[in-house]
Amino acid sequence: MQTRREFIEKSSRTAAAIALSGPAASLLAGYVNPKQSPASLPASFHDVAGSRSLRTHARRHGLTFGSAVIIRNVQSDPDYADLVSEQCGIVVPTGELKWIALRPAPDRYDFTLPDFLLSFAQNNHMLMRGHTLCWHQSVPAWIQTEENRPHTRQFFVDHITTVCKHYAGHLHSWDVVNEAILPSDGQPAGLRKSFWYEQIGPDYIELAFRTARAADPDAKLTYNDYGVEYDSEEDAERRRLILELLRNLKKRDVPLGAVGIQSHVKAAQPFTLGEGLANYLESIRQMGLEVYLTELDVNEDDIKDDDPVKRDAIIAQTYTDYLKVALANPAVKLVLTWDISDRFTWLNNGPTHHRKQPNRPQRSLPFDRDFRPKEAFFAIRGSFDRRQIK
Ligand code: XIL
Repeated sequence: MQTRREFIEKSSRTAAAIALSGPAASLLAGYVNPKQSPASLPASFHDVAGSRSLRTHARRHGLTFGSAVIIRNVQSDPDYADLVSEQCGIVVPTGELKWIALRPAPDRYDFTLPDFLLSFAQNNHMLMRGHTLCWHQSVPAWIQTEENRPHTRQFFVDHITTVCKHYAGHLHSWDVVNEAILPSDGQPAGLRKSFWYEQIGPDYIELAFRTARAADPDAKLTYNDYGVEYDSEEDAERRRLILELLRNLKKRDVPLGAVGIQSHVKAAQPFTLGEGLANYLESIRQMGLEVYLTELDVNEDDIKDDDPVKRDAIIAQTYTDYLKVALANPAVKLVLTWDISDRFTWLNNGPTHHRKQPNRPQRSLPFDRDFRPKEAFFAIRGSFDRRQIK
């Protein structure tokens, strides 16, 4: 006798095989055919829900899959809300928990949007993580005034305490400090010359972690950064400095639980992916820390060919290549893409240095602008399936 669950899983596998017969079937095995026509991919995101979702495939291999979202999109578009809740086991707001959004004035916090996301997550059996308590790019104008600047340390402690207490017991993890390393700033230990660093001093990092832990005893406290993925000299130097920072924090018993690797990878990269990243992951694992791939996406601006079919194949292959290395280490527990649909990728809407080709919207994420699964979806799912660790 098969159980109801086995029956549902088996029927949906059969349905998937029917829906993806012909050339698309090969995508299920992780093979990427550059001539693949998008028309042969499933027409709707509902065709890859349930047992076919990224969420379910991730879970079978010791991973939680999820996405960053712009909260207003979840509120305003029911299809998007369905896509997110079908595919994700965890969500994170892209901007709504940063200082500027959350703290419009010294004496005012606005939790409306993140509170909405938390109830959306809970109603749909998803986890939520927090991003971020401290980032050089989200420093409100009011704290930089002559009057307030001398009190930065107190504002900082109050902010982290209030925000962490508000969500205590409800968040899976917090990106406590984001992007603290920038060797070209010329500071000791490669620390970035951010507002927080300049006003509080280099111990702002330790202060942030200790304050967060005092206010929320449960969330995994995470240090998150970028530029550690490739076998380039620049990334190698960043990895070395981040590991040094982590070792120092651990030595001082700072409550650090995980390391975030943003994973903004690039198609058409001159550098290779492999040893550098693998060794970095292993060093973090040996420190007893978890690893989260926090902001995965593929920047495809440097692909010369304009043909979307060819670009999609290269993008999918980039996901496969990256995840092959990243998922090999058992310390990796979470994978989140930075949004899930090309309609909302920050690469089309964000800073201009990510928009080398402003007239060619990027196709960076697993679902296209109309929420149809792309080859990138099957590349990510196939990478989960090939993971040996349970
Ligand atoms: C980005 C958001 O996606 C944008 O909407 C916003 O304008 C700028 O920030 N690394 C991070 C994220 O840690 O916070 C950034 O998010 C993307 C790069």
